[in-house]
Amino acid sequence: MNPEPASVACVRAPKHLAIVMDGNGRWAERRHRPRSFGHREGQKALRATVEYCLRRGIGSLTLFAFSSENWLRPADEVGALMQLFLKALDREVDELHGHGVRIEFIGDLSAFSTELRERMLRAMEKTRGNRALFANVAVNYGGRWDIANAARLAAAAIANGELADANLDEKSLAPFFALASQPPVDLFVRTGGEMRISNFLLWQLAYAELVFIDTLWPDVDAAVLDGCIEEFARRERRFGRTSAQVAITTGQEPT
Ligand code: IPE
Ligand code: IPE
Ligand code: MG
Repeated sequence: MNPEPASVACVRAPKHLAIVMDGNGRWAERRHRPRSFGHREGQKALRATVEYCLRRGIGSLTLFAFSSENWLRPADEVGALMQLFLKALDREVDELHGHGVRIEFIGDLSAFSTELRERMLRAMEKTRGNRALFANVAVNYGGRWDIANAARLAAAAIANGELADANLDEKSLAPFFALASQPPVDLFVRTGGEMRISNFLLWQLAYAELVFIDTLWPDVDAAVLDGCIEEFARRERRFGRTSAQVAITTGQEPT
């Protein structure tokens, strides 16, 4: 008799899931609605994803919400996104806080209006003590910005004597990157069918498993996420070793 297929609740889940939430515009255009309608609908998928991570015990979730290049979009779309961020901060923070979610914004926040920036800082401050889930939201974020920022912070630390060794290497530079205090990203998912990174996490994706799916972001639900986790669980993570070596190790990234 064939054994029962393992239920998805039993398969190995990632510790840190990073998602490029792409496809909102096309989702709306297919319905002959303005692109901003797709961004609003995308919030439901975002809520479902947070709930999913809480349920599955995935400790860190990093979401790409607005890239450093998205300022290049038409002013009305950028304006609609900023309004959406403001409203979402008003509406969602208390509930997320109630669920023990720690909210962290990563990216260059200085480009946002004072109102928006202050609300982001307040949300981070309010949820600082929470431990059920790290929800990192990348806004005005670019992987290249993150690398330049880490270099700038490291240079400042060397100049003021906090970092004794001026010979920077991977280990001494790592703490200056966004998400440094969280486990490495082990699963990257991009929705919407495009197979590119679009300047999302560059340093942090070094050994992530990459999963690209055609589903547009507003259509993402628990079943779609289950599919991504199953795909992740099927991957053999070798980190440079051979398959035979991996069979006797833990499958964790070597430190
Ligand atoms: C992703 O959806 C959301 C943001 C970039 C803010 P898009 O708006 O890029 O949707 P498509 O790719 O045009 O369908
Ligand atoms: C990446 O999607 C950014 C976000 C999802 C926030 P884009 O839609 O901006 O990426 P490109 O332009 O297709 O590369
Ligand atoms: Mg897009």
